[in-house]
Amino acid sequence: MTHAISYPPLNVLKPIADGVWIVDAPPLQAGGLPLPLRMTVLRLAGGELLLHAPISYEPGLRRALERLGRIGHLVAPSVGHWMYLRDWQAACPNAITWAVPGLKDRGQVRRSSVRIDAELGDGAPRSWGDEIAGVLVAGPVFKEVALFHRPSRTLILTDLVINLEADLLPLPARALARLLGIVAPDGKAPLYLRLLLRLNRSATAEAARRLVAFAPERVIFAHGQWFDRDATGELRRSLRWLIGPEGSKARRGSSANRPTYALPHSTAAMASLALVGVIAALAYAGKRR
Ligand SMILES: [Fe+2]
Repeated sequence: MTHAISYPPLNVLKPIADGVWIVDAPPLQAGGLPLPLRMTVLRLAGGELLLHAPISYEPGLRRALERLGRIGHLVAPSVGHWMYLRDWQAACPNAITWAVPGLKDRGQVRRSSVRIDAELGDGAPRSWGDEIAGVLVAGPVFKEVALFHRPSRTLILTDLVINLEADLLPLPARALARLLGIVAPDGKAPLYLRLLLRLNRSATAEAARRLVAFAPERVIFAHGQWFDRDATGELRRSLRWLIGPEGSKARRGSSANRPTYALPHSTAAMASLALVGVIAALAYAGKRR
C-alpha cells in the first residue's frame, strides 16, 4: 500500500496549538481510493486527553499520549470512525467511549466487541466543561458530531470535509476523487454524503451555519490537507453546497486485526455509493413514516 498520500511522520504526536495535537496514520484503502487518516487529540482543562477518531492502536503511541495526560475519552465522531476503538478500550479500560447517536445500534458495531458508553449530540458532556461545543450533523444513514475547541478556536470534523491532494494520488484514484468532489483546494463532503445530507437539508444547513459562525482559526479533519490558514473562509467554501453563497456568510454570535472500514467509505466502489445512499435513504425515510 502506498503511503504517499499520508502526512509523515506517521503515528507520532504533532503539536498544533495549546492543548491540541494531531496524529497522522497510514492510509486506508476505500473502494480503490487511498484515504489518509488522522486522529486529533485534545487535552481538557482537567488534564485528561480526548482522542477524536482514534487511529490504529500502537503501544508506543499510547505511551507518548500518556506523557501528556491520562487518556480519559475515546470519541467515535462519525458512523465510519469506530473501527479502532476496541484495542484502545483494552489498553485504556477506564476511558469513556462516546459515539454519534445510533452507532451502537448498527449491526457491525453490535457484532464487534466495541463498547459504547454514551452518545454525543448538540452541546457537550458536562465532564468536558465549557471548553468544547458539539454540533450534530445528521442525515439518513450518516451522522457526524463536529467538535469546536473554544480555547484554541479549533474546529474538528471527521468526514464532513475531505481534501485530498491530487498530485499524491495514483491516476485512477485521482479521477474518482474528482468525481466525488474531494480534491484540494476545493475539497468538501464526498458526493454520496452530500446526497444524504441534502435529504435533511434544513437541519444540516443550520448545523453548517453554526460551524461557520464559530469562526475557527483552524479546521482539522480526518482525511486530507486540513485548513491551517483562512480556516473560516475555507470552511465556508467547503460547505457552500449546503448553505449556499448567501447562507455561507457567517452569522457570528449565533447559537451554537484490520477491521473493515464502514460507511461512509465502504469497500464497494465509492461512486456507486451515491446511488446506494439515495436508495437507502429513501428506504429509511419510508420506514420512518
Ligand atoms: Fe472517514
